[in-house]
Amino acid sequence: MPNPIVFATHNNHKLQEVAAKTGNQLQLLSLTDIGCTEDIPETGVTFRENASIKSCYIFNNYKVNCFADDSGLEIEALNNEPGVYSARYAGEHGNHEANIEKVLNNLKGIENRKARFRTVISLIWNGEEHFFEGTVNGTIRHERVGAQGFGYDPIFEPEGYTITFAEMSMEEKNRISHRAIAMEKLIAFLNAL
Ligand code: IMP
Repeated sequence: MPNPIVFATHNNHKLQEVAAKTGNQLQLLSLTDIGCTEDIPETGVTFRENASIKSCYIFNNYKVNCFADDSGLEIEALNNEPGVYSARYAGEHGNHEANIEKVLNNLKGIENRKARFRTVISLIWNGEEHFFEGTVNGTIRHERVGAQGFGYDPIFEPEGYTITFAEMSMEEKNRISHRAIAMEKLIAFLNAL
């Protein structure tokens, strides 16, 4: 297994989930580990573009093998909103409470609660870019339940379950989540090298 590799995120929850998923299969470095404190602007209009912007930024500035994910929630009845704008749906970047409130308000009176989380990972390995994707289908609850996880987890119930992501342990979420599925593909790719 090739080592080490930088995961280009400032989101500690994402970092913990990915670190738990990779275990000792990868020597995972954080942005802090490489002294990167900049906020990388996400100017793309797709998950793929934003993931690529983040990984290319790190590769171009730090010359290290790295990967970045861009992910978000797509709600069918809202024309796939909030999508790439998931982190700043209610305006301020990373205000999860306000983002959830906006989703619940926009879905008031709407019966179709179908949604999915999507992740696209851009990996830059030896100067070449590779993409990995993961999706998990589910529904949006009428109110928040659970205290684990982050972001929209308290209102997302994955298909086949009766609890939200925020009621799951990290281990359980990591078996089925969009990010976990994309990470499994990335790990398989590196293992096959
Ligand atoms: P990113 O950091 O640009 O990929 O933005 C991701 C945003 O999508 C987060 O700030 C959350 O609002 C949402 N999101 C992505 N993955 C998850 C998840 O696993 N649970 C809950 N919300 C998520």
